[in-house]
Amino acid sequence: MLETLNPQPQDKILQLISMFRDDPRGDKIDLGVGVYKDATGLTPVMRAVKAAEKKLWETETTKTYTGLAGEPAFNAAMVTMILGAGYADRAASVATPGGTGAIRQALELIRLAAPGATVWLSNPTWPNHPSIIKYLKMSMAEYRYFDAVAGGIDFDGLIEDLSKVKPGDAVLLHGCCHNPTGANLDAGQWDQLARLLIDRGAIPFIDLAYQGFGDGLEEDAAATRMIAARFPEVLIAASCSKNFGIYRERTGVLIALTSPERRATVQGNLAFLNRQNYSFPPDHGARLVTMILEDAALTAEWKAELEEVRRNMLTLRQTLADELRKATNSDRFDFVARHRGMFSRLGLTEAQVEVLRKDHGIYMVSDSRINIAGLNARTVPILAKAIAAVL
Ligand code: LMR
Repeated sequence: MLETLNPQPQDKILQLISMFRDDPRGDKIDLGVGVYKDATGLTPVMRAVKAAEKKLWETETTKTYTGLAGEPAFNAAMVTMILGAGYADRAASVATPGGTGAIRQALELIRLAAPGATVWLSNPTWPNHPSIIKYLKMSMAEYRYFDAVAGGIDFDGLIEDLSKVKPGDAVLLHGCCHNPTGANLDAGQWDQLARLLIDRGAIPFIDLAYQGFGDGLEEDAAATRMIAARFPEVLIAASCSKNFGIYRERTGVLIALTSPERRATVQGNLAFLNRQNYSFPPDHGARLVTMILEDAALTAEWKAELEEVRRNMLTLRQTLADELRKATNSDRFDFVARHRGMFSRLGLTEAQVEVLRKDHGIYMVSDSRINIAGLNARTVPILAKAIAAVL
C-alpha cells in the first residue's frame, strides 16, 4: 500500500528551519518562521507562563480527560479576550491544537454545513490556508490584497474581487498583522469591506494569530469585534502560540458565532469534529492561558511582557526602515515602518532572496517575507546593507 505514496512538496516556511540549522556559518541570520526572539536570539518562556506552570505543577491533581470541546473556562476566557463581554449566548467554541487546528476545524465545519461553499483567500496568504483547503478538496478562490510596489493594500482590487462572492461563501480575513505581507486594512477599509460582505451574504472567517503583536491587545481585536457585532454568523480561528509564546503546546480556539437558538447544535457539531479528528484537544497550554486570564496579577504580568514584545518589534521596524533608507538612498522600503505584526513582505525577487541566503547567510521565505522579530540592533544594519547589495 505505502508504495503508492509520492513525496509531498515541502512547506516553504518550515523547510527554512532545517536549511538554517544545517548552515555552518556563525553569522547567519534567521528571518524565516514566525517565532519571536529577544535581543539575544532566544524565544523566552513568558514570565506569566512560567509562574502559571509552577502553580499548575503544585495544584494539579489529575490528568484525566477534559471535555471534547476542551475546558469551558478556557473557551470562555478566549471568547472574552477576543470579543469582549456579551457573546455567551451566541458563541459556540472548542479548544484546538494551535491556530492551525482551529483553521482545520473551521474548514471542516464549513464543509459539513455547506459542501459547495467557496472559501476566499487573500492573495497572498499564509501558505497553510490554501494547502489545507486543497487537501480537504474544497472550492477556493482568491481576492487581491497586496500592492507589491507600494508595499500597501490593493483595496480597489480587493473590493472588485470580493464583489463576486456568492451568498454562503466564506471569506478568510486576517484579523490583524496580515501574514505574510504585514500590510493591514484601516478602520474605514474594514467598514467598507464589512458592508460589501453583508451585502453579498458572505460568512467572515477570521484568522487571528497575532492579537497583541500589532497595535495592542484591544486594538488588534477591533476589526474582529466590529465584524462579530454586524454579522449573524462568523468563524474565528485564534492562536495562543505567539501572544502567549507557547508555540509547542498547541493552544488555539475555534469560535463560531451564531444565533442563540442555533448555538447548542453548532456547539455539538464542533465537539463532533474534535472527536473525529483527535478526540480531546491538548490541555496544558489552554490551562496556562486560563490561569493567566483568570488571575489579575498574572494577566498584568502577561500584558506587560506582551507589550514589551510589541514595542520591540515596532522599534526594529523603524530602525530597519531608517537603515534601508540610508543603504538604498531611497524611500522604497519606508512601508516596513508602517506595517504591523511579525512580518513584512519586502518585494524582492526569488533570485534576490536566494543570493541573500547563499552569499549573506540571511534566511527569509522565498516570497521575501521577513520575520521582524528575528532581527536585533546588531543585525538590522547588516540586513539593510545586504538588501542594498542585491538590488
Ligand atoms: C509562520 O507563518 O511562520 C508561522 O505561522 C508558523 C507556521 O506554522 O508557518
